[in-house]
Amino acid sequence: MCKFSLNLIIVQVFGVLVSAVFFTSCGGDSDKKSSTKNDSVDRIENKYYDGKGVGPISDLALNPDIDNKLVEEGKVIFNAKCTSCHKLSNEKGIGPGLAEVTTRRRPEWVMNMILNPMEMTQKDSMAKELLSIYYSQMLDNNLTIEEARSVLEFLRRH
Ligand code: HEC
Repeated sequence: MCKFSLNLIIVQVFGVLVSAVFFTSCGGDSDKKSSTKNDSVDRIENKYYDGKGVGPISDLALNPDIDNKLVEEGKVIFNAKCTSCHKLSNEKGIGPGLAEVTTRRRPEWVMNMILNPMEMTQKDSMAKELLSIYYSQMLDNNLTIEEARSVLEFLRRH
């Protein structure tokens, strides 16, 4: 009776030790992997890029004041057409997180990326670089220039 319960305790203690070892090594490993991956993504995304890109928009001057009506229009379009691939934080989805994207890209570049993504990933060096780490091609969402402009205004808020 006494021997039996001692065996049981030994088995239980051993079980706890084994699972403790298993969880620590497993947790440590996956932490390492995800941080290396995010580091390389972050470096490219956070780099400021001065190009205007290729597409219909060659010059676009922004008013320093944000136009709230445009922001609201852009929000509706963004929620309908962009959230399947983009988060508004820094977190990566199918495409890059778009937090503060308008501080690291020119307005012309963002507009051309929205209106002409296929040619951008073939000819613009930053878009090419993004494609090489995201492995999926952003498609043309058929926005008009006015719709793209409202999405840009919405992105200036994030
Ligand atoms: C099917 C997924 C998908 C959809 C939908 C999509 N995108 Fe993208 N987007 C991507 C990917 C992937 C990239 C990176 C470039 C590439 O690989 O084509 C990207 C890149 C971008 C970039 C450049 C980000 C940076 O860090 O420089 C912007 C801006 C952008 N998209 C805006 C939008 C907007 C606005 C919409 C909605 C109108 C949209 N995207 C819809 C997948 C998508």
